Amino acid sequence: MKILITGARGQVGTELVNEAINRCHQVHAYGSNELDISNLEQVNEVALQVKPDVIINAAAYTAVDKAETEKKRAYSVNSQGSKNLATVCKKLDIPLLHISTDYVYDGDKQSPYVETDQPNPMGVYGASKLEGDQRIEQIWPKHIILRVSWVFGEQGNNFVKTMLRLAEQRDELSIVDDQFGAPTSARAISLCLLNILENQQFNQSNCPWGTCNFQSDPGVSWYEFAQEIFHQADDLGIINKPMKLTPIPSSEFPTPVKRPANSKLDGKKLEQQFGLTPVDWRIDLSVMLKNTIHS
Ligand SMILES: NC(=O)c1ccc[n+]([C@@H]2O[C@H](COP(=O)([O-])OP(=O)(O)OC[C@H]3O[C@@H](n4cnc5c(N)ncnc54)[C@H](OP(=O)(O)O)[C@@H]3O)[C@@H](O)[C@H]2O)c1
Repeated sequence: MKILITGARGQVGTELVNEAINRCHQVHAYGSNELDISNLEQVNEVALQVKPDVIINAAAYTAVDKAETEKKRAYSVNSQGSKNLATVCKKLDIPLLHISTDYVYDGDKQSPYVETDQPNPMGVYGASKLEGDQRIEQIWPKHIILRVSWVFGEQGNNFVKTMLRLAEQRDELSIVDDQFGAPTSARAISLCLLNILENQQFNQSNCPWGTCNFQSDPGVSWYEFAQEIFHQADDLGIINKPMKLTPIPSSEFPTPVKRPANSKLDGKKLEQQFGLTPVDWRIDLSVMLKNTIHS
């Protein structure tokens, strides 16, 4: 398939490009310098020139706290950018695969979120992503919005890298233990997106377009995630000193934007419609840490 990938140098974008090439797709990948999704003229120009079979949008404004003071930029990328891509996909009559976030929810629900739950974002980032999802839904039915959470990978910034960096500077860390979700690797998200577009139902008249949750197993708190990171890093000899971890409530780690207490996403719809089941993020973490040693 000829795939146009936006945000190609982000956490997910990088993995997506590599895996799509491995699977022998014809990949046209653009970082933000080559294709700014908030610029409709540029989006039209590139897409009409490439004439892809599908567009995968891995581009987004992802700075959750900074978005509070950069509201215009966050909306321009996450809302206007999504609208631009949906508009060009409609013009070309091709599907749009897009990535959304657990931050569209307030996290007050007691059980994992299903796709029909009412969103209620707690900050500008979540609100701008939600508006992007809604614009896609309004403009172009031929879309899959994959809602994911707690992304980690070798590229970019994420919780795993923060933990490893802090381990070089400190002997003890206090980690939030009352927010629950499931870490999901950028690689797992990429495989999921490509498996969807390689599914025989994809782009057929019976394709189940719409929003699907995707989350790895098992669910944990940030504290439990940190425990696993240090456990594996210790086994692999990446850190060679004991780290003391202390569980704390969110109230002791205030952030400009409140994070959802519950970021668990129910993945049954994805399983029923595309046969895709959750993967164990601890395996992806181990691959990432091993690659860290060799890089
Ligand atoms: N990270 C998480 O924990 C998380 C959780 C849930 C959902 N998500 C969603 O997952 C998706 C992928 O996230 P990620 O973690 O891979 O993010 P990321 O590492 O921040 O990558 C996003 C990419 O988008 C690019 N970008 C920003 N503005 C752009 C624009 N106007 N035009 C084109 N490209 C632009 C960035 O390029 P520059 O660096 O050059 O600006 C960056 O390479 C996003 O939709 C995000 O909302 C992420």
